[in-house]
Amino acid sequence: MSETYSPGLEGVIAGETAISTVETGLTYRGYAIEELAEHSTYEESAYLVLYGELPTVQQAAEFRARLGAAANVPPEIIETLRKIPASAPTMDVLRSACSLLAHWDPEAADNSHAANVRKTERLLAKFPVIVAARQRLRSGQDPVAADSKLTLPANFLWMLRGEKPSERQVKALDVSLILYAEHEFNASTFAARCICSTLSDLHSAITGAIGTLKGPLHGGANERALEVLLAVGSPQQAEAWVNAAFARKDKLMGFGHRVYKHGDPRAVILKRLTSAVAAETGNQALEQTAEIIEQMAWSQKKLPPNVDWPCARLYHYLGLPMDLFTPLFVIARVVGWSAHVIEQLDNNRIMRPRALYTGPAVRKLPR
Ligand code: SDX
Repeated sequence: MSETYSPGLEGVIAGETAISTVETGLTYRGYAIEELAEHSTYEESAYLVLYGELPTVQQAAEFRARLGAAANVPPEIIETLRKIPASAPTMDVLRSACSLLAHWDPEAADNSHAANVRKTERLLAKFPVIVAARQRLRSGQDPVAADSKLTLPANFLWMLRGEKPSERQVKALDVSLILYAEHEFNASTFAARCICSTLSDLHSAITGAIGTLKGPLHGGANERALEVLLAVGSPQQAEAWVNAAFARKDKLMGFGHRVYKHGDPRAVILKRLTSAVAAETGNQALEQTAEIIEQMAWSQKKLPPNVDWPCARLYHYLGLPMDLFTPLFVIARVVGWSAHVIEQLDNNRIMRPRALYTGPAVRKLPR
């Protein structure tokens, strides 16, 4: 094997996958993301990522029924959520909760393909329950039980607010979850594959992936991107704010991508949906501010927006607290992470790259 070195593993092929590729635009199991966003639901796309094929009507109904039956959390974990300080970031709480869930999952130690598929469905069902319950508990409200008749995004909004969400809100959230569901060897997926390549378990891999996604250079950017927009304040102030940021060599959150150098296809899809929701919710000024920033980022730095840039605004327009933006990314991406864990274990070799040594030459201890 020849040794190659590329900072940040840029351009390095670190494994094989049949789940998705960003090579020719983004496809999940061969289906273009544009088609999935337009014609599928998150649950259908999640089934596709996990099982490799789109579900039949019967399979989709059975999948929904299994998710509905698993949309609950042990009372001991709810009690723990009640005790965690309200100031703790939801991403940290979700990381802890994922680890806790292993103690109540009877198949936690079973690393077989079939058991990991079953565990994936339980995590898919339970993460929205945990995020919604914790948000209510920190606000002094009791959790709202899932309604097994609702789809995953509709259930999340129901459990968060205790009122039935509008079709429009559910559809917008559903599309964002499809776009966030899977993305080849991004940092958090690679972390999950690395963890399970030692034959460690699914909960350990997903806990590590949550910790990885939290970073502002990765999934945490969707929260930081809203902070940028709120800091800029208005379309009139955008140009001065961006020029000052670039002068400080600040990283503009929601822009740039290791792979997409001419634009993130997900951002294009989400921009259309976000501007429609903006018009309905009276947020045109924020859209104008975003547009000015986008034009400056491209004209001055050739930086296109990534998926997090429109998603931050969409979640804000849906009235979701900023602290839940990256946890929503987790709720969507857990199926991608898990599919990669299962694929890695089906054809595993422990990951152990080399390092370029830059330390001192061999030397003797002083006598
Ligand atoms: C996600 O990998 C995935 O697939 C991730 C993801 C997924 O679905 O899993 O797509 C989700 O994480 C999207 C990315 C979210 N992160 C951000 O929005 C944070 C801001 N973006 C940057 O930090 C950056 O663009 C990265 C981290 C996304 C990519 O970093 P790279 O490929 O290592 O690029 P780089 O840092 O080497 O930058 C190259 C040049 C540098 O300029 P120079 O130092 O060479 O002069 O471009 C500049 C950078 O300073 N640059 C930026 C910038 N991104 C790159 N300058 C200002 N703002 C930015 N956002």
